[in-house]
Amino acid sequence: MSEPTQPLIPQPCTLVIFGGSGDLARRKLVPAVYNLLLDGVLPSNYAILATGRKALSDGDFRKTAQEGVVKYSRQKINENVWQGFERRLFYVAGSIDEPKAYQDLRKRLEQIEADLKLPGNRIFYLAIPPTSIAGAVEGLKNAGLVQPPTGNVPFSRVIVEKPIGHDLQSARQINEAVARVFDESQVFRIDHYLGKETVQNLLVLRFANSIFEPIWNHKFIDHVQITVSEAEGVGTRATYYEEAGALRDMVQNHILQLLCLVAMEPPYSLDPNVVRNARMDVLRCLRPIAGKDVEKYTVRAQYAAGKAHGTEVPGYRREADIKPDSTTETYVALKLFVENWRWSGVPFYLRTGKALTKRASEIAVFFKPIPQILFNANPDIPLEPNILTLKIQPDEGLSLRIICKVPGAKAKTNPVEMHFQYGEAFAAPSPEAYERLLLDVMAGDASLFMRRDAVEASWAWITAILDGWKTHGTKWLPEYTAGTMGPVEANRLIESDGRCWRTL
Ligand code: BG6
Repeated sequence: MSEPTQPLIPQPCTLVIFGGSGDLARRKLVPAVYNLLLDGVLPSNYAILATGRKALSDGDFRKTAQEGVVKYSRQKINENVWQGFERRLFYVAGSIDEPKAYQDLRKRLEQIEADLKLPGNRIFYLAIPPTSIAGAVEGLKNAGLVQPPTGNVPFSRVIVEKPIGHDLQSARQINEAVARVFDESQVFRIDHYLGKETVQNLLVLRFANSIFEPIWNHKFIDHVQITVSEAEGVGTRATYYEEAGALRDMVQNHILQLLCLVAMEPPYSLDPNVVRNARMDVLRCLRPIAGKDVEKYTVRAQYAAGKAHGTEVPGYRREADIKPDSTTETYVALKLFVENWRWSGVPFYLRTGKALTKRASEIAVFFKPIPQILFNANPDIPLEPNILTLKIQPDEGLSLRIICKVPGAKAKTNPVEMHFQYGEAFAAPSPEAYERLLLDVMAGDASLFMRRDAVEASWAWITAILDGWKTHGTKWLPEYTAGTMGPVEANRLIESDGRCWRTL
C-alpha cells in the first residue's frame, strides 16, 4: 500500500464550537473528534470548548456529548478512552449577539489553554445560521481572539458551515465579513461531501489509474449522471429548508463539487491551491442557465403524499412548519454543459430530491455506444453502453458494466457488472467526512475546503437559475409521489435526448 507523499501533521489546538449545544456538534463534530482519538491520529494535546445560548455546565455538555457518541459514533464507545476524552470537553454559555459572550469565551479559553498547557492554536467552528456569521467573526476580533496568519504566533482558523448565504449577494456579504477578520488562508469553508472517502477517491481513481484519463472526454463519454437521492422527507429542518429548497441545499454545494471532481483537469500537484484551481476552472466553464432557458434545462418539483419504506409520508405542504402554499422545491433535475475542449457537447444530468425511493448517491459515466455492425441482431435496439458507476453512498464502491458473450452456441451478448466495494476490499468502515475534514483543519490543509472564489462562482451560476425561476418558472410546481424517483417531467428532461435515468 503506498502512503501519501506529504503526511498531514495536525497541531495541538482547541476546537471552539459556536452552536455547541446544537445537533451538528452532538451528532457529527464531537463523535468525529472522538473517533480521531480512537484511531490515534488526534494531536496529543487538544480540547473542545463548545459555546451556545443554552445554559449548560461542563458536566451537562459532557453528558450530551456522550449520548451523541453512543448514538452516532462510527466506532463503539470505550469507557477508558472516553474518560480521558471527556475531561477535555468544556462549555461556556453565551449569546453570539452580545460582546460579553466573547469576553467570557476568551477568559474560559485562556484558562483551559493554561491548565492543559495548550499552545494557543484555535479553530473556531461556526455551526450557526448564515445571518449570525458576520457578528460572530466581528465579536472574535473585538475580543482579541484572532491572531494574524503570519509570524511565530499560534494559529487562528475559522470553519464556516453551509449555507454560506442564500444567493450570490448574501454569499459575498458573508465572505466580505469573514475577510475583514481572517485572511483567506485561515478560512475553511466546509462542504462535507468533499470529506467523504468515495468522493476523495474520485481523484485517485481518475489520476492514479492509467486506463481512465485517455478516455475521460467527449470522444468516449456520451453523458454523465449525478444523482443524490434521499429517502427522508424534510424532517425537523422545515424552517431552514422552506427558505432553501433542493437547488440551494444540495446543488449549489455538494453536487457542483462532485461535478467539479468528475470534470476537472489533472492538477499538476496535490498542493491545496492547485487542486482548488482545477476544481474552480470547471465552475468557470459552466454554461449559464438563465432566463427562459430554465424551462428547457431545469425541472423542480415537490413531493406529494405517499408511502416510503412502508410508512405514510405527508405531502411536503402538509409537513409541520411548511406553508400550505409553499413553492419550495424538494426535487430538482438539471441538464448542464461544461464548455471546454474536454467536455464539448457532453450533457451532465444532475438530480436530487427528498422523499425518493431510497437513499443512494452515485455518479454514472455513460460511455458512447459501439458502432452497430458486429453484435447487434436488431440495430433498432442498440447494445447497452459501458457505464462506470461510482457509488458514493451507501454500498460505497464502484462498478463497471461491460458487455459479455452469453455461454452457448449463439453469439448472444449480455451486460454484466464488475464490482468493487470498499467494505469488502478494505474490511473496515470508512471514516466519517467530518473526521477527515477536522483533521485537515488541524493540519492546515485546505484542499478539501471551498475557496471564496469557488463559493461565489457556484452561487453566481445558481442565482441565475433562481432568477430564471422567478420570471420564467411555471406558476405551479409539478408533484411526485413520496417514495418514487421524482416527477415525470424529470424523465422527459433526459428522455427527450434519447437517454434515460439509471435505475438505482
Ligand atoms: C446537507 C443538507 O448539507 O446534506 C441536507 O442540508 C442533506 O438536506 C444532507 O440531507 C445530505 O448529506 P448526506 O451526507 O447524508 O448525504
